[in-house]
Amino acid sequence: MVEPVRCGTGLFVNCDCIEGARRFLADASVDLVLTDPPYGIGGDRLDRHYNRDERHVVDGYVEVPTEAYGPFSSAWVAEAARVLRPGGALFVVSGYTHLYEVLGALRASPLVEVNHIVWKYPFGVFTRKKFVSSHYHVLYWARPGGTRTFNLESRYGIEERNENGRSLNYLDREDVWTIGREYKPGRAKNRNELPQALLEKIVQYTTNEGDLILDLFLGGGSSARAAIGLGRRFVGFEISPSIFAARVPELCRLEPGSRLASLRVPVTAPPTRRGRAWSEEEDLALVSSYARLRADGLGKGEAIERLAAEFGRGRFGIVKRLSRRE
Ligand SMILES: C[S@@+](CC[C@H](N)C(=O)[O-])C[C@H]1O[C@@H](n2cnc3c(N)ncnc32)[C@H](O)[C@@H]1O
Repeated sequence: MVEPVRCGTGLFVNCDCIEGARRFLADASVDLVLTDPPYGIGGDRLDRHYNRDERHVVDGYVEVPTEAYGPFSSAWVAEAARVLRPGGALFVVSGYTHLYEVLGALRASPLVEVNHIVWKYPFGVFTRKKFVSSHYHVLYWARPGGTRTFNLESRYGIEERNENGRSLNYLDREDVWTIGREYKPGRAKNRNELPQALLEKIVQYTTNEGDLILDLFLGGGSSARAAIGLGRRFVGFEISPSIFAARVPELCRLEPGSRLASLRVPVTAPPTRRGRAWSEEEDLALVSSYARLRADGLGKGEAIERLAAEFGRGRFGIVKRLSRRE
């Protein structure tokens, strides 16, 4: 195996991901696996699939034959489960073609499902005789047995509203994410580079600064840019020598934490009336406000968040109070 490249808070290895994980990663040592495995649809045909200018795409993408996709998925998922700490999270970006094999491998592993996120992107594959394909699947699983990091207010405070009075925090946490692809005219790219907005969102919610993030299928290193840019440590494996040679030098120039200063600062304020006794009046007002919000069509979760802001209480305080009245 070739020698690893260590730079800043990153470790990059030009090797098969299973071999790399076995050699470089101890059991339960990783906080987040963030990965985008080969799609098994013929990497060299992706240009036709996406109908785009391929001149700046770095060659050497290693694809997985269709018939091998099931065992391939089982092998890398087992390795991811081994290296994740209890409570650590796994995010897999998957197309539809081999989704059932990735899900099959996850279900056979010790990991548990947290969310199935749909990533919707504009400008999908053009069609005339059927609907246009414009989404990927983002599978969020976790290793049980420990505390899962979920930074609820990392991007929007619970009390922040948009101009229509809707909770920005709630909207950001719905499981359909509309995020555009990045266009990089004239710059080197990998065949399936993921947008930074997608990856940074995952990193912000599910890790803290200094945590270790692993990408088993590095490609052009978009996961490394998100991780290192946000001050996390990173390990990435890429089997293709040409992609590795073309992309790792630029990853080594990333400055750890350089993206932190440009992040939106959420407005978070501690609930002003938390811990105070409830008056009968306040209790009645709570019940009628809850009924009104639900009648207006708000879901239970969103209504509770709205009431927490309105009454200056924590979410759990609101839930407890409402359940006493049911
Ligand atoms: C879908 S691409 C990843 C793209 C990446 N998310 C990016 O933003 O550029 C999958 C990558 O996995 C690599 N690959 C295929 N089999 C591999 C293996 N067994 N170990 C490590 N890398 C592998 C491919 O060469 C390809 O670069």
